[in-house]
Amino acid sequence: MEILDGKKISNQIKEEITVEVAQMRDRGEKVPHLAAVLVGNDGASLTYVGSKVRSCKKIGFESTLIHLPEETTEEELLKQVAELNANPDIDGYIVQLPLPKHIDEEKVLMAVDPDKDVDGFHPTNFGKMALDMETFISATPFGIMELLRRYNVETSGKHTVVIGRSHIVGRPISILMSQKGKAADSTVTLTHSRTKDIKSLTLQADIIVSALGVPNFLKADMVKDGVVIIDVGITRVSDESKEKGYYITGDVDFENVSQKASYITPVPGGVGPMTIAMLLKNTLLARERHNKA
Ligand code: GUN
Repeated sequence: MEILDGKKISNQIKEEITVEVAQMRDRGEKVPHLAAVLVGNDGASLTYVGSKVRSCKKIGFESTLIHLPEETTEEELLKQVAELNANPDIDGYIVQLPLPKHIDEEKVLMAVDPDKDVDGFHPTNFGKMALDMETFISATPFGIMELLRRYNVETSGKHTVVIGRSHIVGRPISILMSQKGKAADSTVTLTHSRTKDIKSLTLQADIIVSALGVPNFLKADMVKDGVVIIDVGITRVSDESKEKGYYITGDVDFENVSQKASYITPVPGGVGPMTIAMLLKNTLLARERHNKA
């Protein structure tokens, strides 16, 4: 069994980006600038956005955090989005999800300029992704693909079972892994809450991507020997014995499933750090595309 070490690979990617940014700076060019909009004070979102902004600083990007109060109206947020679209200094930005309930998420994501949509959530970018055109691929599926590529995990002709059909992970990774190319060419089954007898499908899987958010969902008796496991689950479980009052766990019973797996991502330290690295990669791509435009 080999660990798919997302922390290590994400550090490699960040080092590669750091070198490119230093070269941009040396040439007197503008360096990439990422902005993040956060509405409200959701604990997990605060952690993610803080981590994204810190990573920008480390690798030499410019970054701007726009933290708006929970009571921000949809109209105010749309105005902020319009300002970011119009600001030539910003190469890419994200609106951290989830948004407060009184704001229509779809309306906000539709308002983001697709050329600055480094999350790849705009229908234009999602559509281009599905058609294998140049786009911004969402950071989590992009990170999974990159992890598989860098470990040379064989995916061609393999049966990949994806658990969960979210717009951010399950749906896009099912499309990407069925496309032609490295870390792809897979035969994909997309399973979800209405799937009957998931176990009969996971038992056939050469590769399982679990993006469900249910701790300990995938157990050892649900997988075959040699399976490749990508655990996208990140659930906070309350635990007073921990300094933060919680610990993070994935969808997979790691202790037992890892004994049957050929490759497996840990949680934390697997897909999570890859997501941030690929967001930075998308921001670099945005800068380079704006240079060419
Ligand atoms: N919430 C959970 N994951 C993500 C992500 O990748 N991007 C944004 N903007 N919000 C998220």
